[in-house]
Amino acid sequence: MLKGKHVILGITGGIAAYKSVSLLRLFVKAGAEVQVVITPAGREFITPVTLSALSGRPVISEFFTANTGAWNSHVDLGLWADAMVIAPATASTIAKMANGVADNMLVTTYLSAKAPVFVAPAMDLDMFAHPSTSRNIELLRSYGNHIIQPAAGELASHLVGKGRMEEPENIFSVVERFFSLSAELAGKKVLVTAGPTYERIDPVRFIGNYSSGKMGYAIAEEFASRGAEVVLVSGPVAITCNHPRIRVISVESATQMCDVAIKEFDGCDVAVMCAAVADYAPEEYVEHKIKREKTDNPVLRLKKNPDIAAKLGELKKGHQLLVGFALETDNETENAKDKIKRKNLDFIVLNSLADKNSCFGVDTNKVTIIERNGDAHRYELKPKKEVAADIVDFIKEKLC
Ligand code: C5P
Repeated sequence: MLKGKHVILGITGGIAAYKSVSLLRLFVKAGAEVQVVITPAGREFITPVTLSALSGRPVISEFFTANTGAWNSHVDLGLWADAMVIAPATASTIAKMANGVADNMLVTTYLSAKAPVFVAPAMDLDMFAHPSTSRNIELLRSYGNHIIQPAAGELASHLVGKGRMEEPENIFSVVERFFSLSAELAGKKVLVTAGPTYERIDPVRFIGNYSSGKMGYAIAEEFASRGAEVVLVSGPVAITCNHPRIRVISVESATQMCDVAIKEFDGCDVAVMCAAVADYAPEEYVEHKIKREKTDNPVLRLKKNPDIAAKLGELKKGHQLLVGFALETDNETENAKDKIKRKNLDFIVLNSLADKNSCFGVDTNKVTIIERNGDAHRYELKPKKEVAADIVDFIKEKLC
């Protein structure tokens, strides 16, 4: 998987830098071309001669090569890379990356890189536990970077705790797995709807629901990490996603979501209808705020919203898979089976409000996938990211 891939190995000034030599060897053995970029502090821990001998390329550390004055282009390097791996990543480099402090070659290269970035933090336990480090790591995660969590164990300070850089073999496996996963669904196009819809009553009020969008976003991210191109049609949510293969189209109401979904469905191999679409919208929108002083008991008349899943079910062509979600409080399986038929779905992901820690707002979910023929596949309560992986695995089997 890594044969011929261009990997930038970023090394910073931590004692774990000695392990980067093993990591470098693993990449080279796998057939990758590795360019080492090291910070000035990193050079205090490991000599560039060792790294250039093993990588077969001069190590880059400064913006200019001192004796020739040649400029090391971080932009070209950033574009050359298929992956950038920063191991070890110190608290200082993580903070610079999180905040765009481009005062060395490694951070400027990071800021120019379009490729996936893997960050393996390494530092003392107290530094790792500091809220500043946690916040910076969260920022990197929000940029779409992959954080390879440090392990717990004895540290260079002889203290014991979390902060040891993950072992080179494990860092290598994460990168290798990333590339093999990204090939799984390459060439497939997927539509995902997510989040709630808001149906306007007047300029300041709407009908909404508790959907956080977390499940739909996790599914979109899982598809993208397997190499699929994803269109994510999202209602108003507080979360963001940052993946180069996900195109987010933000909408507000069910009608808007419906128009976009119909337009995007053509050309898709799969559509996963994860949005909690409002069933009803106010019959009319009141242009000015409804005033309490002027209206004692206002009556809100509602009209039915379009059923997006059912509309896509009508448009569905032979090769397309249409997956729905169902949230039921009673008679779950029967209702789910009925929904599969009514909306012409291929299968439905059922989650029950009866399950604690499932559904709205929480980070876990427990689902059962029900097929057209009634076959039910039950899964354990898991983090939504893992539930998304189960769902995508199931869809992948049906697609191939
Ligand atoms: O009928 P019910 O709302 O229970 O169906 C749930 C499934 O249908 C979900 O996949 C949901 O995203 C989809 N749906 C839709 N448009 C609606 C209502 C539900 O796409 N108006």
